[in-house]
Amino acid sequence: MKKYIRLLVIPAALWALSMGLVLFSGGCTQSTPDTEPSGSLPPESTVTPAPTATREPTVTPAPTATPEPTEVPTPTPIVINTDTSTVTYLVNREFSLPEDFVPEGLTTPDVLFPFSDTTIDKAKMTPEAGAALALLFNAAYDEAGLTLYGVSAYRSYARQYTIYATNLATRGIAHTNRYSAAPGRSEHQTGLAIDISCASEGYGLETTFADTPEGIWVAENAHRFGFILRYPKDKEAITGYNYEPWHIRYVGTELAGYLYETGLTLDEYYGVPSTLSAEYLETTPFIDTTAESYLSIERQYK
Ligand code: DAL
Ligand code: ZN
Repeated sequence: MKKYIRLLVIPAALWALSMGLVLFSGGCTQSTPDTEPSGSLPPESTVTPAPTATREPTVTPAPTATPEPTEVPTPTPIVINTDTSTVTYLVNREFSLPEDFVPEGLTTPDVLFPFSDTTIDKAKMTPEAGAALALLFNAAYDEAGLTLYGVSAYRSYARQYTIYATNLATRGIAHTNRYSAAPGRSEHQTGLAIDISCASEGYGLETTFADTPEGIWVAENAHRFGFILRYPKDKEAITGYNYEPWHIRYVGTELAGYLYETGLTLDEYYGVPSTLSAEYLETTPFIDTTAESYLSIERQYK
């Protein structure tokens, strides 16, 4: 076979030379890939190399089935959003809120709570997030006959300090850092996040909520109303927190839909997954444990 091809190739090359064609000098601009405007190039896999006189025949790969094109939404270039006048801004261990930050217009959403005084901080959210929460809870009831409860929404910086410090004093560093954000680093301070539960869970915040009809429905539908599950299962290393099927965060329907479809966390979306090692999180408190404000809390539990 090779012999047969050489027989064809050699006369062809001689013919080309005799015609004075510049086949191999690079002088022909049409065949020089460097000068092709890259935008007009077909996809690489469809370029057929021009035959050359010296090339050995190559084995043509057997055609493979072309995969069906899948619809993947194209993300716009991401700039980390820390603008608290929006609903998509990032709060995590690296991107924190100032001590004096209080969201505007905090109000109690028209949903059920397992406590009677709904004027307290933890029953409050921003007006937009609260209205979306009411739509979510109403849809759970109307579409699936499920009753959801709001358990803990807005927390001030000071309140988050007390929660974090109390956890530190009573549960240790490793547990605290897995479940509790340090003050300024909690989404609860945004008024856009809420912990939710249901009666069969005793209104508690346990991972078993994920297996209840209510938890399953929320996981599948929250994005329709602009909420994301902020600390998903199997994303602990990225978020830096344990799985929390009860913690939902309002980001608006556009971003929530995108994150639901792609399976990205908000940290991944902004390109800033947690960089803190498990060992660091197990050994390092995020508040000053020598400060009197902490020691006074610690003394209460000794
Ligand atoms: N449980 C979440 C991480 C918080 O404390 O904000
Ligand atoms: Zn929460």
